[in-house]
Amino acid sequence: MTAKESLHQIAGICRRHETWRQETINLIASENVLSPAARRLLDTDFHHRYAEGHPGARYYEGTKFIDEIETETHKLILKIFGAARADVRLPSGTMANEAVFSALMKGGGVALAHGIAGGGHISHARIGALGKRADKILELPRLADGFRMDAAATRAKIAEHKPRLVVLGRSLFLFPEPVAEIREACDEVGATILFDGSHVLGLIAGGMFQSPLAEGADLMTASTHKTFFGPQRGIIVSREKGDDWWKPIDRAVFPGVTSNHHLFTLPSLWAASLEVVEFGAAYAQATIANAKALGQALHDRGFAVAAPDLGFTESHQIAIDVKDFGGGRDVSRKLSDNGIICNMNLLPGEDPRKNARNPQGLRIGVQEMTRFGMGPDEMGRIAEIFGACVKDGQNVTADAKALRDAFPTIGYGFSEADLSS
Ligand SMILES: Cc1ncc(COP(=O)(O)O)c(C=O)c1O
Repeated sequence: MTAKESLHQIAGICRRHETWRQETINLIASENVLSPAARRLLDTDFHHRYAEGHPGARYYEGTKFIDEIETETHKLILKIFGAARADVRLPSGTMANEAVFSALMKGGGVALAHGIAGGGHISHARIGALGKRADKILELPRLADGFRMDAAATRAKIAEHKPRLVVLGRSLFLFPEPVAEIREACDEVGATILFDGSHVLGLIAGGMFQSPLAEGADLMTASTHKTFFGPQRGIIVSREKGDDWWKPIDRAVFPGVTSNHHLFTLPSLWAASLEVVEFGAAYAQATIANAKALGQALHDRGFAVAAPDLGFTESHQIAIDVKDFGGGRDVSRKLSDNGIICNMNLLPGEDPRKNARNPQGLRIGVQEMTRFGMGPDEMGRIAEIFGACVKDGQNVTADAKALRDAFPTIGYGFSEADLSS
């Protein structure tokens, strides 16, 4: 193939991907779409540039405009989360975690975190970023429902093991964490509380989930592109202001885990943060209502949706046990072949070493379809199509496309015209 032919191939693959994703119902809980304004702002000369350090104190020339953008984005993130300190220079949530772990776990020690089977992220695990720093990672106790933390047992574990760090927040994240309930126990042993808000950042910003810093978390890390409206980046925010406290984290971000910080996505994060201020509360409310509605509709169709006694969820996600239909791998593949994209997921209590490649569960998130304007009626329709595919073995590709086609426009955000009008 000539280079030109390969170029056409590249363009063709991208076009086919875009068309496919426009015609399918995306229920992957960690994804979302950018508004037209935020997407347009990705394509600027900042794509070509470098800026190490802080605005006004860079190690490069040519940064006066990115300095302005970084300063304003930083201010807005502080305001949205009621934080005393923030860093907006992280290219991803995993790098935000890496920076915090390297600053706070220098020299090792014990950390408490949700295991993978408890819904925790790989960066909180022995094989991930935390495992590189901690001598020992102990699992946070859960209540019998498997999804909520057991605050009393956690307090006892903190008193017994005296961790340096307690990592809250998860990838399978249905219910708020008991931050206030463990604050005092952490104070007694000098433990820091990190809340990883990657999944629920937009719900927190919209005031509809929990407020980790106000409840007593010392730090929150997050990626900015799941329920928050941003491009793929990360942030760290802190309740404490003191220089002695913040300096190691600042140094861990740069030069610890970053050099340049992918400047081209920062204007988009600023725009997305403005959208969160403007539309975040309504969006978070609609998202959570949709997740509950989808949980109920699937439950009514006989699916084993987790936590029915607790209203299924308080976030954008629900979890379903699909072992009776062949397990998460087969069911998610079948759905994907039929125009409904979601991912397999371990359920609480499953052994990741045995089941990671074919877990019992599915994790479903409604945040993207909510951004396209779907509401509880459409959640009922998704449940119908889902049931026809998974239970009755029907090909539902055309039904999924017809439903998706009725919601072509991204809401809760600014248009391209808003950039100049
Ligand atoms: C709880 C949690 N933390 C961190 C991350 C990593 O975020 P990123 O993909 O931005 O590195 C994820 C990703 O899904 C997550 O679920």
